[in-house]
Amino acid sequence: MDPSSLNDLHQASRLNDPDASRSVAEPVISISGLDKVYAGGFHALKAVDLSIRRGEIFALLGPNGAGKTTLISVVCGLVNPSGGEVRVDGFDNVRDYRQARALIGLVPQELTNEAFETVWNTVSFSRGLFGKSPDPAHIERVLKSLALWDKRNNRLITLSGGMKRRVLIAKALSHEPRILFLDEPTAGVDVELRRDMWDVVRQLRDSGVTIILTTHYIEEAEEMADRIGVINGGQIVLVEEKAALMRKLGSKQLTLHLHAPLAEVPVALADYDLQLAADGSELIYTYDGTRDGDEGSSITALLGDLDAAGIAFKDLHTRQSSLEDIFVDLVKERT
Ligand SMILES: Nc1ncnc2c1ncn2[C@@H]1O[C@H](COP(=O)(O)OP(=O)(O)O)[C@@H](O)[C@H]1O
Ligand SMILES: [Mg+2]
Repeated sequence: MDPSSLNDLHQASRLNDPDASRSVAEPVISISGLDKVYAGGFHALKAVDLSIRRGEIFALLGPNGAGKTTLISVVCGLVNPSGGEVRVDGFDNVRDYRQARALIGLVPQELTNEAFETVWNTVSFSRGLFGKSPDPAHIERVLKSLALWDKRNNRLITLSGGMKRRVLIAKALSHEPRILFLDEPTAGVDVELRRDMWDVVRQLRDSGVTIILTTHYIEEAEEMADRIGVINGGQIVLVEEKAALMRKLGSKQLTLHLHAPLAEVPVALADYDLQLAADGSELIYTYDGTRDGDEGSSITALLGDLDAAGIAFKDLHTRQSSLEDIFVDLVKERT
């Protein structure tokens, strides 16, 4: 990636942003009561309400078949909703389709490219589709920012998978959208390319573009997002700041495998948050793992009190709850 060309891209997109003075508090996308029933009768979206904040990276996390692509497709105007409404910077995405669509760039899940076209032509043509006059300087900035400049005269068929994906991003940025949707940007992409992709996305966000990405990789949501929404079975089951979600996830558990099972937690240990499991042969201690220093001293105290109570253990291990636990719980509850 060439950082200086990205700075140019930032400058250019700021200058071109007619909404730069708008309140950041006002959502850039408002989705309310959105429903989608496909022709065969499948209910893919159920009363979805969601607001996307200007300038954020929002990760829509959900298992395969949850409705992520359907939701994106409805917002981008590719699939008609069965009910509800979507506003993109105030424009109704059905009634004011052209204005709403012009604000959006979409990087689709599927890699469909014009195999024999060159990078330059593909990206330039895409801009034209939005009725924007040619702007070679903008296309150059986009290609440079995505490290595609050297490949501009190559036919798409000659590019690697990672490059093809970056061409899709370049196409989506060709008409200078303020909002970029990335549908599973790193599905099937190897770890190294995934990191590159994350860098590109973060740099775009820093340039003022609002990013909505879908993923079924928890790690990706954890790494990238300012806020995370979880979708399952066509319903939004959680929307939260990632930082707040992570704080909730700060609790840790220490499991002690006891020599002899206990019928109940001894009264002498009532001050600790303890639970028995595995028919009394495991003692589970839950504590706040986010407070530095406390952790060690409270465990030392517990072990001393266990010893005093004559409770012996043969093994112990600790674990920290993760986004994965929450995700698995949420998805399990609904099915
Ligand atoms: N064109 C369609 N017709 C009927 N059902 C569809 C269509 N597209 C998707 N679905 C169904 O809607 C559900 C959600 O699909 P999708 O939005 O692609 O999920 P995700 O992107 O989260 O994997 C799936 O059960 C899928 O089979
Ligand atoms: Mg999908």
